[in-house]
Amino acid sequence: MTLPPSPPAALSPADLSSRDPDWWRQAVVYQVYPRSFADADGDGLGDLRGVTDRLPHLAALGVDALWLSPFYLSELADGGYDVADPRQVDPRLGTLADFDALAAEAHRLGLKVIVDIVPNHTSHRHPWFQEALAAGPGSPARERYVFRDGRGPAGELPPTDWQSVFGGSAWHRVPDGQWYLHLFAREQPDLNWGLEEVREDVRTTLRFWADRGVDGFRVDVAHALAKDLAEPLRDLGPLTGEDALAELPPGTHPFYDRDEVHEIYRDWRRVLDAYSPPRTAVAEAWVPGARRALYARPDELDQAFNFEYLQAPWDAEAIRRIVTDSLATARAVGASATWVLSNHDVVRHASRLSLPPGTDENAWLLADGRTPPLDEPAGLRRARAATLLMLALPGSSYVYQGEELGLPEVADLPVEVLQDPVWEQTGRTRKGRDGCRVPLPWTTTGPSYGFGAAGAWLPQPPSFARYAVQAQDGVEGSTLEFYRTALRLRRKLLDGEELVWHPDTPPGVLAFARSDAWRCVANLSAAPVPLPPGEVLLSSAPLGDDGYLEPDTTVWLA
Ligand code: NOJ
Repeated sequence: MTLPPSPPAALSPADLSSRDPDWWRQAVVYQVYPRSFADADGDGLGDLRGVTDRLPHLAALGVDALWLSPFYLSELADGGYDVADPRQVDPRLGTLADFDALAAEAHRLGLKVIVDIVPNHTSHRHPWFQEALAAGPGSPARERYVFRDGRGPAGELPPTDWQSVFGGSAWHRVPDGQWYLHLFAREQPDLNWGLEEVREDVRTTLRFWADRGVDGFRVDVAHALAKDLAEPLRDLGPLTGEDALAELPPGTHPFYDRDEVHEIYRDWRRVLDAYSPPRTAVAEAWVPGARRALYARPDELDQAFNFEYLQAPWDAEAIRRIVTDSLATARAVGASATWVLSNHDVVRHASRLSLPPGTDENAWLLADGRTPPLDEPAGLRRARAATLLMLALPGSSYVYQGEELGLPEVADLPVEVLQDPVWEQTGRTRKGRDGCRVPLPWTTTGPSYGFGAAGAWLPQPPSFARYAVQAQDGVEGSTLEFYRTALRLRRKLLDGEELVWHPDTPPGVLAFARSDAWRCVANLSAAPVPLPPGEVLLSSAPLGDDGYLEPDTTVWLA
C-alpha cells in the first residue's frame, strides 16, 4: 500500500522569517557584550549560558536578532577582541555546546544570531604569533604579521610614525630587535592580508560559524585589513590614522579604507552566499559617507554601521542632514541604512546626549563625570526621544545592552578597576570604555543586582537598583516598557523603506512620514511646539493635555 503524501507542515512566522534572505534590511539587532550581560556560573564574568538564560528578555523586548561581541578564546586584553582562537569558546565563557544551545534557543524564539569576526588582528597568544616570535626575522611565520626592522642607527626607532588607536606608537619591539604592527593594543598584532593563508583561515572561521547556524557576522575594523606594505612604508606626518582619512585622496591611506579591501569582501560574499538563506554581514568601518556605503554593496557585506547618527549633536538640522545623506548613500548601493546610538566603545547615549555641546568626553570621564555635572533625568529624556526617532527611520537599528533600561554611563569608575587597555596605553590619560561595559542589573537587590552570584567584574553604582529589569518590568512609563511598546508597534507599522520629510516644520523640529499610518515628530528645540493632528501611538515622554509637544520629546502618530 502506498501512503498519500503528507500535507506540508504549516510554517510559523519564525520559520518564514528564517527563510527571508532580506531579514536584516529593517531588523532591530540587540548587541550583547557577553562578559557584562549575565553570569550563569557565578565566576564574576558573564557567559554564554547567562545569555541563553536571559533570551526570553530579548524575545519579550521584541528585537529581531542578537549580535554577540567576541566570546572566543582570549586573555581579555581588549575585552575579547584579542582572539587567540576564533573557533573556540573561551572556557570562562562556556563551551561550543553552550554556543549551540544558545543558537538553538534563540532560533526557537524567532531571534537571529550574529557573531563578531575579528579579522584585522589576533591575540599575541594566538599560536601563529607565538610561532612568529620563536621563528625569528625573515621567517615565513613572521610573514603572517607585519614585522619590520626599526629605523635609527641600531633600529631603535619604530619603522613608521603610525599611531595606535589606543594611544602611542602602533609598533612594538620584540627582544630580537624587530618591530611588529598593532593598530590597537600591543596584545593585538595586525595580520598580513596579503597572504593567502591568512585569507583562507578567515574563510574557515566564517564557515565554521555559518555551519553552526549563525545568521550573520559583524566585521571588526572592516576598513583596516588591506594595507600598503610596499617598502618603504610611508609616514603619516602630523596626521593621525583617522584624521588622515579625511585629508588623503580616497583609497590612498596606508592602512584604512584602501580600495583593495573590497576584494576581500567580494571573496567573503561567495562564502556567505553558499548558505541558504545567505549569511549577512555588517561592517564596522569608521569611514565617512559614500565610501562607507561601498562595504554594503550587494556583492560585499550587506550593511555598514553608520556612526554619523551616533556622533550627531542634539540638533534637528544636523540630524536631518545626516539622515538624508545616510539614506541616499545606502540606497545608491542597494543597501538599507543602519542606525546606532550606543555600543561597547562609546559613552552611553543616556549620558552623552545631556553633555553640553563640545564637551570633551575624556576630560569629563577623568573628572568622574562631575564636570560638567550630569543631569541624569534630562539625559534619559533625550535618549528616549533619540531612540524613538531612530526606530522610526528606514533601515535597521542596533541597540546596545542596557539602553532598554536607560542605563547611564558609569563615569566615576575608580581608576584602579579600569580594564580597558586604553588607560595604560595612553599613559593613564584616557580613561577608556569601561563605563559603558559595567555588568547589567537584572534585580533590584542581591549580589551584583542579579548579574551573577560572585559579584560583577566592574563595580555597579547603587543607582543600578532603580534601572534594574525587575524595577521596570510591567511598570507603565518605564524605559523598558517604552522600548517594548516601540518595538512591538514598529513591527506592526513597518511597510517599505521610504521616508517623506514634512515640508514645513518649526525650527528644531523633525517630522516625517513612513506611511499614511506612521508619522514621527521630534521636538529637539527648547520650547514646546504645537502637536500635529493625529492619533498619538507612542510618546517618548508624557504629553501635556494642552496639545503641545514638549522639548526633547518624540511622538509617533497615526
Ligand atoms: C572595534 C571594537 O568594537 C573595539 O571594542 C575593539 O577594541 C577594536 N575594534 C579592536 O578590535
